[in-house]
Amino acid sequence: MSQSRGQWSSHMGFILAAAGSAVGLGNLWKFPYIAYENHGGAFVLVYIGAVALVGLPIMIAEIVLGRRSQLSPVGAFLKLTPDRPGHRLWAAPGMLGILAGFVILSYYCVIAGWTLRYILMSVSGQLATMVGDGSFNDFFGAFLADGPQQTLWYTIFMTLTVGVVFFGVKDGIEKVARTLVPLLFVILIALAVYSTTTEGFGRAMTFLFRPNFHELDRGAILEALGHSFFTLSLGMGAMLTYGSYMRRQDSIPKAALAISLLDTAIAILACIIMFSIIFTEDMEVTKSSTILFTTLPQVFFKLPGGSIISGFFYLLVAVAALTSTISLLEVVTSFAIDQLKLARRAAVLLTGGSIYVFGLLSAWSLGASDKLTNFNLIGRDSTVGMLGTLDYLASNWFLPVGGLLIAVFTGWVLSRKASHEEMSDGHGPLPWYNGWQALIRFVAPLVVGAIIVSVILGAEYQ
Ligand code: PHE
Repeated sequence: MSQSRGQWSSHMGFILAAAGSAVGLGNLWKFPYIAYENHGGAFVLVYIGAVALVGLPIMIAEIVLGRRSQLSPVGAFLKLTPDRPGHRLWAAPGMLGILAGFVILSYYCVIAGWTLRYILMSVSGQLATMVGDGSFNDFFGAFLADGPQQTLWYTIFMTLTVGVVFFGVKDGIEKVARTLVPLLFVILIALAVYSTTTEGFGRAMTFLFRPNFHELDRGAILEALGHSFFTLSLGMGAMLTYGSYMRRQDSIPKAALAISLLDTAIAILACIIMFSIIFTEDMEVTKSSTILFTTLPQVFFKLPGGSIISGFFYLLVAVAALTSTISLLEVVTSFAIDQLKLARRAAVLLTGGSIYVFGLLSAWSLGASDKLTNFNLIGRDSTVGMLGTLDYLASNWFLPVGGLLIAVFTGWVLSRKASHEEMSDGHGPLPWYNGWQALIRFVAPLVVGAIIVSVILGAEYQ
């Protein structure tokens, strides 16, 4: 099996593809809005701490497991567990990862589809017109409730995702990542440089970087921790799967560090861009979760060249989302290839097709179908509707539980010899190997355990 397994053609190929997985709606849509909601400063600091102390060590762990086993999540855990009674139970975190990939991809493509419509509306001038005559205010709600529209954009985005994975590791994913990730970074830097010329830039920087710990409650700390999982694509085997394609001679810690830094930089750049514009216009943000789709366009068109800025911006969001959805589908597809012994193309069509059908439930749960819109499994405001329920289950349960199990497995079940060998391949002795062991054995499980307990106790973790 390992003979026929594809490999990244270079170190940068792996870093760019993994960074493409990490950078997505989590950075550009979710982080700015939760940072805004939680008053910036202190929240941003806790988030950066979570990335460094929990995210980075778990990312190293996932890549170690993937490259060591040369398999996708389920196979990886089974292969790396010593053959003792009950060892097959370690298939559980792998299965949970497949489930998480399945669920997240199904609703993620719905949201990602909106960006395509926004690109089109920007380029055609329709968005400018609507913002100009005020009809934009009613647009978004009506768009969400429009079943055929939701189906259309969702279908297009899912087709793009399936198409890229269909063409295989080297030919598909690497090519896309190679061109699109640097492009995305460049466009973001350009927009951020532009924002330094706006009046609100100073206020945006103060808001983001001056911590005020009185404004930080327990729920915000937990939210920052949880988001570090989602944004780094951790806890469900995405990095594990990509790691299985990584070349032996490349350094895992260096790659993980580069990916975490890039992901964090992009989230911060997105905040600088959005907050600068918001503060320049002195906007009152009533519903922060919609900044990306409802507030931002109104601001774009107060600026010169609004249609161009807006078109570029949503293109950038679409690109970021696509490189994330590719990795989500890759996890489920690799499972079908390795465990069900399917050929790659058959596996892609089977998994992509079933996820597509399942995702229609989310696409129609924003007003198109009453039943799906009012679907209420957990009974809290934010979890109402099929899309809300699935997002709640995936980010509050699947990813943290998966991350906890990955940390415990790598720290306590995988032999020190194995992890040391993977981490030091061709790079001599590692002075900070013991530091990573301490983080993965104690710090990460305890912190993630606290997140899970807080969810069980019903704390405001979302
Ligand atoms: N990290 C991606 C984002 O920030 C989402 C994602 C989560 C992708 C889990 C893969 C696995 O948008």
